Amino acid sequence: MQKAAQTYSTLLILCLTLITGCVSEPSSDDKGLKEVSSFPIGGAVEIRQVLQDSSLRSIILNNFNSITATSDMKMYAIAPRDSVYNWDKADSLVDFSQRNDLRLFGHTLVWHSGTPRWVFQKASEDSVWLGNFLKTYIQEYVGRYKGKVAAWDVVNEGFDTQGGEYRETLWYNKLGKEYIANAFRYAHEADPEADLFYNDFNLERDTAKLNGVLKMIEELKADNVPITGLGVQMHLRMDIPDSLIRESVRKMAATGLKIHFSELDIIFNRHDDTRGGGEQLYSRVTPEMLEEQAQKYETVAQIYREEVPEAQQFGITFWDFTDRDTWINPFFDLKDWPTIYDSELQPKPAYYGFRKGLSE
Ligand code: XIL
Repeated sequence: MQKAAQTYSTLLILCLTLITGCVSEPSSDDKGLKEVSSFPIGGAVEIRQVLQDSSLRSIILNNFNSITATSDMKMYAIAPRDSVYNWDKADSLVDFSQRNDLRLFGHTLVWHSGTPRWVFQKASEDSVWLGNFLKTYIQEYVGRYKGKVAAWDVVNEGFDTQGGEYRETLWYNKLGKEYIANAFRYAHEADPEADLFYNDFNLERDTAKLNGVLKMIEELKADNVPITGLGVQMHLRMDIPDSLIRESVRKMAATGLKIHFSELDIIFNRHDDTRGGGEQLYSRVTPEMLEEQAQKYETVAQIYREEVPEAQQFGITFWDFTDRDTWINPFFDLKDWPTIYDSELQPKPAYYGFRKGLSE
């Protein structure tokens, strides 16, 4: 009898363990990035790929609550020819983001590399036309997605690759530096609720460039230009010192603007920022290198949490999030492993490192 009771209670405990095991919260090991983060986590996507690739889609839906288009929302995609707008992909991105409760980030309104050829041709004959086009393009585009695109990179890479000078783009050469203030004003008129960012690269490592951008931000604010955010792309390299990154992020946060790590990836090799190929230092990746990369991802998340006040934490976005799809390899003609998922779409140590940095 006693034996039967014992067996019964053992069975009961076993059942309860099984049941509670089934209904309990997933352990933190199973949680996606967005679940452990107190601020939005995003990924850059191409809508065609998202709709076709269900593995990629589940990575997005498990981990992100924000998305940015890698190229579908650039000027050459939206206005491919004179007087022709192509809204299809942006419409699909809006639809996908709304169905899945994702914040949609608009990248980017004005960017030298995103400017289509026909705009260069037309502007070469007529600067007044370019000024008018800037206004109608931004107002039509931002107005169309009012309330649907949460925030915009209004101007991307308006400073030289190195140092603190304005980049001499078509926009700058024809319209002067006022094109930046005007772009923000037009966007704000079209959607007063949208957050408006200035976005650039190497700000975390090039102090002269950061100082130039900070000076511009001060001037814009003094002129009541409606800028609300600073995007730092964060195309990092393993050998960029953490202390330098931290110090730079502290200065960015001191602007009071929302701070977006807008295009995070971390390479082992070297970019050539003037393009034409990078420098291949490592031909293969070892487990030790992957661990070091995990540590760097963790540190980046920690720096963001520690240096950016909560009210200014707009979020962290990965620029491609699989080593299969990373833009780094074709763009810089490199073989690198910069993201948090490997080429088989499995989470790398970097994934776990970053997640740890978000929560510990
Ligand atoms: C890149 C895309 O990822 C590539 O697919 C495309 O060929 C070129 O543009 N900084 C930016 C992004 O602001 O728009 C760039 O995206 C990467 C560098």
